[in-house]
Amino acid sequence: MARAAAFTLSQVEPDIAVLTLDVPDKSANVLSESVLQELAAHLDQLEARRDLAGLIIQSGKPGTFIAGADLREFASSLDVPAETVREMCRRGQELFARLSRCDFVTVAAMDGVCLGGGAELAIWCDRRVMSSGEKTELGFPEVKLGLFPGWGGTARASRMIGLGNAVDLVTGGESIDPATAVAMGLVSDVVPAERLLEAAVSLIRAERASGEYLADRQRWSGPVAISQTELGFLGATASAYIQQQTRGQYPAPLAALEVLLGGAGVDVQQACAMEVEGLAQLFGTPTNAALLNVFFLTDRSKKDRGIDRADVQPRDIATVAVIGAGIMGSGIAAVTLKRQIPVSFTDASADALARGARGVLEEAAYNRKTNGPDVQRALQLAPLLRTTTSDDELGACDLVIEAVVENADVKRLIYSRLEPKLGPTTILASNTSTIPITELARGRQRPDQFCGMHFFNPVRRMKLVEVIRGKQTSDETVATVVAHAKRLGKFPIVVHDGPGFLVNRMLFPYLNEALDLLADGVPVAQIERAAKEFGMPMGPLVLYDVVGLDTAVYAGRLMWETFPERVVPSPILPALVKAGRLGQKSGRGFFSYENKKKRPEPDPGLARFVDPYQRTAKSLTQDEIAMRLFLPMLLEATRVLAEGIVRDPRDVDLGVIFGLGFPPFRGGLLYWADTLGPRQVLEMLKPLADLGPRMQPTPLLEEMARSNSRFYGDQFRGPTPTGRRQP
Ligand code: NAI
Repeated sequence: MARAAAFTLSQVEPDIAVLTLDVPDKSANVLSESVLQELAAHLDQLEARRDLAGLIIQSGKPGTFIAGADLREFASSLDVPAETVREMCRRGQELFARLSRCDFVTVAAMDGVCLGGGAELAIWCDRRVMSSGEKTELGFPEVKLGLFPGWGGTARASRMIGLGNAVDLVTGGESIDPATAVAMGLVSDVVPAERLLEAAVSLIRAERASGEYLADRQRWSGPVAISQTELGFLGATASAYIQQQTRGQYPAPLAALEVLLGGAGVDVQQACAMEVEGLAQLFGTPTNAALLNVFFLTDRSKKDRGIDRADVQPRDIATVAVIGAGIMGSGIAAVTLKRQIPVSFTDASADALARGARGVLEEAAYNRKTNGPDVQRALQLAPLLRTTTSDDELGACDLVIEAVVENADVKRLIYSRLEPKLGPTTILASNTSTIPITELARGRQRPDQFCGMHFFNPVRRMKLVEVIRGKQTSDETVATVVAHAKRLGKFPIVVHDGPGFLVNRMLFPYLNEALDLLADGVPVAQIERAAKEFGMPMGPLVLYDVVGLDTAVYAGRLMWETFPERVVPSPILPALVKAGRLGQKSGRGFFSYENKKKRPEPDPGLARFVDPYQRTAKSLTQDEIAMRLFLPMLLEATRVLAEGIVRDPRDVDLGVIFGLGFPPFRGGLLYWADTLGPRQVLEMLKPLADLGPRMQPTPLLEEMARSNSRFYGDQFRGPTPTGRRQP
């Protein structure tokens, strides 16, 4: 059977044609090779017509114009020769450029997301109109995949909206809303979705009358109008900003800047040729492959229902109760309220509740664009937040999230008190970070409706949520909590109960090793630098300070009690806690925060707590330090996999990236290990053998080395030590 067509050609008026893109069997329109071929065939026919005044390109899928190129096709061609990449770019550029040369006016009518290759198609049209719909946005997110637009996006955007705007859009990778697009001159009109076609028709009539589009065609084919001084200034400021943001770990934004600046002084065709050359340098590089993997991890998470059975459906969560108005409870209430879900909010302390509620409303009504509170939004959300002390009211909610102090007795007491008030289908979830879920569920009347829902701090920024299954948690409960977490804009991963669940269990070997490095005489600054150079957002010792050293001692003890054979307790932490150095919150920990900006500063007073426990004075390279930190984390991951704590290795990678800040440009912990290969990992562990059982290869790793297999199995699409195209 012939494949169903992606484009449909129709006429909205006798002299105005409409191409409607509705890629079959896909929830979003993506530009695959076959879709581009179809577009080419349509253009062949349309260009030959003499009766047309205009062509409108629109989407048949409400809410998405075009989401971008087909990334699965990209991923399968990562190792093609550079010349093939150039060919792919040139073909796309030539195809889209035809939209700027027709005998008629071309207009993109965009409702919903218009990203990447979709945005390139749109800007090659003569004009654009946008719907005012909530989901409508336009952007070039390619830098997030280690690339930049290669179908003429950089060349065309800098001519259409000015070099400064193009630099912002392309190197930042963030989308713009319709109002910003109008202000930049990218879009001619913004109207409600149902009037989009009508607006496009009017625009075509107006352009035909004025001929302005012809003048623009002329203008946009020459060099960018910018003086040498402006160009120099823009280049210097943008480059400094990008280098500070990317720390040399993400090459794409700087490469994009170079192409944008270089392409400004030449005509559009030469600028396109530069774009091709620049992109060929990035496509298929290890960073590109790793970032594509991160995209696939998030894409999989969006589709994953959290359970393997197809016959179980999540229940609706219309109302949520949050118990505990501290750091976490407030954060959870705010993200819930932000999605306009009614929240009943409580705390044992009236003061804490009042303070918490104020913070929740402020945060939920915060407007990122104006960097301040949005009064209109606050008025709209305020009635949805109810502070209460009534157990009846809390129990009547569909989901109750408990986030009170980390004390099993306190938590149990709350559950017992609340239990008689809970509705028959109400789910009770704990945000505990260390207490086993099965233990908390013991004695509950409905343990099947109990689970862990572990958010990370700060809740508004951290995208990960661990959904923890106790022994008796039902599939329906898991599916419901997973669906709810996604509604909050989070990436949920389902993990089985166990000490530290997934993420904290990955974290502890890494944090512990930092203490052991101190005992080996490695200076604080060197440990921090090694972790940051590896790509972590902060070093392990600053992280200790952020977590709080008292909390770390408590959680560390739990790990040590469970895994005494491989957790070596360090006397340094308890010594610091005893001296009242609890980290950021007390002003001092491993660093001092007693400065205006509360930034970590080296503290000479630290030596008094570290020196007495220093065993040796090893001199290690940055690389050796990094491997001391990350190999124990990797070994722990292999144990987690062997124990079946997660359902899929990719959950480990999603967890470490979005829960711990593991560097996305490495693709994930297991992905990174796959790029090394299990045999090389074993080699790297050999010199660490005398550190004891914590550095011993695990049976899973040894087995993988024997069969030379990968954590990602056949789905591994990354560079390997034995070769892949380098730039
Ligand atoms: P917090 O100390 O900021 O807040 C706890 C709140 O619970 C306080 O406002 C306290 O008044 C209230 N509370 C105590 N007993 C109560 C009771 N019987 N009924 C109602 N309210 C009561 O603590 P935080 O940091 O928000 O932690 C809460 C939970 O979240 C803990 O289980 C913790 O392990 C977990 N967690 C904490 C993270 C963090 O980074 N702080 C991260 C992830 C989980």
